[in-house]
Amino acid sequence: MTQSVLNIQNIEKRFGGHIAVNRVNLDIGKGSLLGIIGPNGAGKSSFLNCLIGVYVPDEGNILLNGESIVGKPTYQIIRKGMARTFQVPKIFQENTILENMLTPVLHVNEKRSALTDKASQLLDWVGLGGREHALAKALSGGQQKLLEFARALMNDPDIILLDEPFAGVHPNLKQVMVNGIQDLHRQGKTVLLVSHDMPTLYKLTSDIIVLSQGAIIARGTPKQLQNDPVVVEAYFGG
Ligand SMILES: Nc1ncnc2c1ncn2[C@@H]1O[C@H](COP(=O)(O)OP(=O)(O)OP(=O)(O)O)[C@@H](O)[C@H]1O
Ligand SMILES: [Mg+2]
Repeated sequence: MTQSVLNIQNIEKRFGGHIAVNRVNLDIGKGSLLGIIGPNGAGKSSFLNCLIGVYVPDEGNILLNGESIVGKPTYQIIRKGMARTFQVPKIFQENTILENMLTPVLHVNEKRSALTDKASQLLDWVGLGGREHALAKALSGGQQKLLEFARALMNDPDIILLDEPFAGVHPNLKQVMVNGIQDLHRQGKTVLLVSHDMPTLYKLTSDIIVLSQGAIIARGTPKQLQNDPVVVEAYFGG
């Protein structure tokens, strides 16, 4: 059996009377590429926020490689090997692309030249090579998503959470992102991929969960989900 890297036990996150994440149980195997879909407001981003410590679940437990991470601050969870990108990229617009790349490794005791080389390699990989000293604000929205994707890898994470990486991205750049995700998967990284872009998601993985009103209502292949009345009901209200 595949080794479990993330064991999510019955987590719940409430905002006032509203349940954003509702009793989610999920075991995620090392090296898996899990797609996460669901209507707007289903709790997808909240779920990722619970995993990386931006939100602390009100109930339940999350084991990362067997160790509970509930209540741990995000920076500690990142140091344990998790990274994420945001639905709306969080880029420092007035800083250079290189400075943005170096922010996750400011605490790392490594030569600056080694970190700069690593940043350049990652930037090359997402097609932004040679732009190190340009200001981030000179990048398009899609390029900023690629920058954030590359930046998330500066700490060599084992688990990468991607929140809507394809939204608003030109098809050419989208292909760069798709290739990058496939590379990570081939390298044995664990990837959780939230997307409304079903055709692209379906090309990347056949293991998809559906969230609705905070709960997992289905898991399966694209074909299974398309034919599942519970999923159709969640999206189209019957
Ligand atoms: N910090 C917060 N405070 C209050 N309510 C929140 C907060 N974060 C999320 N919610 C609520 O939780 C629910 C789930 O939101 P979430 O952003 O997780 O959905 P989503 O599935 O990512 O939606 P989308 O597809 O639009 O990105 C929504 O009703 C949202 O308003
Ligand atoms: Mg969201």
